[in-house]
Amino acid sequence: MAIFEYAPAPESTDVVDIKPSYGLFINGEFVDGSGPTFKTINPATEVPLAEIATATSDDVDRAVQAARKAFGVWSALPGAERAKYLFRIARIIQERARELAVLESLDNGKPIRESRDVDLPLVAAHFFYYAGWADKLEYAGFGTKALGVAGQVIPWNFPLLMLAWKIAPALACGNTVVLKPAETTPLTALWFADICRQADLPPGVVNIVTGAGDTGAAVVAHPDVNKVAFTGSTEVGRIIARTVAGTDKKLTLELGGKAANIVFEDAAIDQAVEGIVNGIFFNQGHVCCAGSRLLVQESIQDELLDSLKRRLGTLRVGDPLDKNTDVGAINSADQLAKIRELSEIGESEGALRWSPACELPERGFWFPPTIFTGVAQSHTIARDEIFGPVLSVLTFRTPAEAVEKANNTPYGLSAGIWTEKGSRILWMADKLRAGVVWANTFNKFDPASPFGGYKESGYGREGGLLGLEAYLDV
Ligand code: NAI
Ligand code: MG
Repeated sequence: MAIFEYAPAPESTDVVDIKPSYGLFINGEFVDGSGPTFKTINPATEVPLAEIATATSDDVDRAVQAARKAFGVWSALPGAERAKYLFRIARIIQERARELAVLESLDNGKPIRESRDVDLPLVAAHFFYYAGWADKLEYAGFGTKALGVAGQVIPWNFPLLMLAWKIAPALACGNTVVLKPAETTPLTALWFADICRQADLPPGVVNIVTGAGDTGAAVVAHPDVNKVAFTGSTEVGRIIARTVAGTDKKLTLELGGKAANIVFEDAAIDQAVEGIVNGIFFNQGHVCCAGSRLLVQESIQDELLDSLKRRLGTLRVGDPLDKNTDVGAINSADQLAKIRELSEIGESEGALRWSPACELPERGFWFPPTIFTGVAQSHTIARDEIFGPVLSVLTFRTPAEAVEKANNTPYGLSAGIWTEKGSRILWMADKLRAGVVWANTFNKFDPASPFGGYKESGYGREGGLLGLEAYLDV
């Protein structure tokens, strides 16, 4: 396919000063961890970025104690005072947005265009939004009593954004926090620790403990944690639900998804193609609400697929720091192995695999944008979350069949509808078992809009007014 030439426009890394090693952030200080250190790497080059501390359960205990002590002070502050800190944090994030965006792209592999234009603006917006609630809790309807210490475990796909989703409402409501970032993407959380110091946040209100699953398990199991919030795999979500069962800890889980992006024959095809691309290739498809199942009405299948393939031929895969890049690096070797394995299963089960011609860099973790056609509902790739740039295409004839196929999944996080008819959008939205339904758009986020799922996608809502409920003693 003919593609025009373009000059690379890499963002400079001079704006970030990465030290050789980082400790844990406990009680307002960076301290050594007791466990063995590990490296976080740049997935686009496989070059190590820094040595990171592992928090053992003793370290987690110290962090929880610091948070408990700080809770007395923090929860007693008038809401308007807590708001000042949150507004200050939001403004510092805006001031340091370029630095944070570069760092996020380095550690995660996502294109700078996304970290700069999507992640960072949403991170700041989330802090601004919840800062606004801190002194208005009595109007939200969930009381004003904070829960205590929140133990939060987050994934690697939106490292700083998931931190914002967790920390902003927790602090606004008067809780203190022990947060564990993912082991492949700890850096922006450590930068956030620095921002807390810059904002003069009282010590112990935010604590960051790095490490892998064991550190996360220690946070979740700690007896003095009052609230557990987790985003990640359904498998770990189940383990956490078991750990928390029978305790009086409050729990929210945001797990996987297998969203249907449903295109009717009367839809604006070019817009739908953009929405499909944004739905599954945004952030390399490492998105829990990704539109990973395209349901296209049979009558327009050929036309739509032709347009879609043409569009995929223009996607630029490569250096995440290049401002031209559309699809960056896969976050880790493990995730790449999982995407490869599921794609091979897709082929062996009889679906037809297609990718545009694209040269992938030699070092680093890469996977080309991929489409599977001829996918049946029983195929593994139609059922399992691939969490990569892989789209499964299925067809339908009637709206009722579209609903039936869209809901035929253990997940229920999101869905997309593309049609001219407003009445059909309302009819479909009512029947789709999905927490978020987008119409003639996809992957749109706003801090004022609650987000969450049905069934195996988890429970609890994050964002918006409902997001406050998770952090208050209702
Ligand atoms: P994961 O669920 O293992 O990791 C998420 C977070 O949980 C990380 O911080 C990890 O250290 C922590 N963790 C792991 N085991 C834990 C335990 N026993 N107790 C407490 N915390 C624990 O996810 P992973 O292995 O990185 O990805 C596997 C799959 O999960 C992906 O392929 C994708 O399908 C799904 N996933 C979904 C996400 C979402 O946004 N809903 C985000 C990341 C992964
Ligand atoms: Mg990394």
